Amino acid sequence: MMNKRVEEALNEQIQKEASSSQFYLAMASWAENNGLNGTAMFMYTHSDEERFHMLKLVKFVNERGGRALIPAIELPPRDFKNLENVFELLLEHEIGVTESINNLVDICLQEKDYTTHNFVQWYVSEQLEEEALARTILDKLRLIGGDKGGMYMFDRDLENSAIQPAPANTAKPNAF
Ligand code: FEO
Repeated sequence: MMNKRVEEALNEQIQKEASSSQFYLAMASWAENNGLNGTAMFMYTHSDEERFHMLKLVKFVNERGGRALIPAIELPPRDFKNLENVFELLLEHEIGVTESINNLVDICLQEKDYTTHNFVQWYVSEQLEEEALARTILDKLRLIGGDKGGMYMFDRDLENSAIQPAPANTAKPNAF
C-alpha cells in the first residue's frame, strides 16, 4: 500500500497537471483565433505533454496500490492581453508547478518513500527544462517588443524551430 500522505500529494499533482493541460489548451485556442498559428501549435503540443504528465502519475499511483483520483478541472482564462502576457503566465504557472513538485519531493523524504522519490525525479528535471524554455521564449519576445514583423517571425520560428517541444508520448524514453 502507498503511504497516505504521499498518495494525497500525488493526487494533488494529478490535479495540477490536468489544469496545466487545460490552461495550455486555452492558450492554444486563443493563439489560433489571433492568427498565431505557430504559437497555437506549440501550445497544443504543450497541452498534450501536460496530459501525459498527468497520465504518468495516474498510472504510477494505481500501480503502487494507491488510488488515483481524476479531478474536476479549473476553468482556464479565455482572454490574454498579448503574446508576452501568454508566455508570462506560462512561466508563472510553471514556477508554481515546480514548487509543487519540490513539495512532493519533500514529503517523499519525510515519509521515507524512496520509490516515489525516485519516480518524482523525472518531474524535477522536466520542470527545469520547461522553465528554461519559457524564459528563453520570453527573452525573445521582450527583445521583439511591439514590432509586428518581429512578431510574425517569432510565430513562424515557433512553428518550425527547435524550440518546439517533442510530441508528448515520444518525449521521454521512460514513458509508461
Ligand atoms: Fe507538467 Fe509543465 O508541468
